[in-house]
Amino acid sequence: RPTARPGNLRAVWQALRDEAMACTRCPLHGPATQTVFGEGPLDASLLFIGEQPGDQEDLAGRPFVGPAGHLFDTALAEAGVDRARAYVTNAVKHFKYAQRGKRRLHQTPDVPEIRACRWWLEQELDLIRPRIIVALGATAARALLGKPVTISQMRGRPLPLDDGAEAWITVHPSYLLRLPDPDRQAEEQARFVADLRMVGERLHALA
Ligand code: URA
Repeated sequence: RPTARPGNLRAVWQALRDEAMACTRCPLHGPATQTVFGEGPLDASLLFIGEQPGDQEDLAGRPFVGPAGHLFDTALAEAGVDRARAYVTNAVKHFKYAQRGKRRLHQTPDVPEIRACRWWLEQELDLIRPRIIVALGATAARALLGKPVTISQMRGRPLPLDDGAEAWITVHPSYLLRLPDPDRQAEEQARFVADLRMVGERLHALA
């Protein structure tokens, strides 16, 4: 990338996060509990993008700590990828939901919301400058590439980005949780793990 990274990376990131906590760029900030910003080492060479915080993430203020996060952790462990060394964030940083009685049901963010929140994602990418960016699911892929993406056509290989990093596209762990057939779920989960393993190997090769 053309410009030098600030020396006080942590302070710059902290200021960015503080600013994001007060974000009103789209209407989702209203009903949500809080902004769920990305987290992880700022020198990470691997960065994951999810869709948006879920119910538990909205309450905890941290990405991927609910059911999808548990599946993500399990898959990463199986693939031999250390989550602690990756930066994990979301394309949209407020939880979008519909209230049904006591339950808050996830709703997929729309294109204007993804676009509004992309400003934050770009700042995160620009600060962290990972070698590999993994988009988990269609919303993340859209946020990263700026266009609609068919995951089945794009997964399993690196896509070079303009800044020298590479993108890898795979499914979102919530998609796996929603598959009703256990055999299919096991199959798809194995494919997810295989994608993550490829990413880990690629990271190793680039290091
Ligand atoms: N799903 C996501 O995409 N992100 C989270 O942080 C949690 C669930």
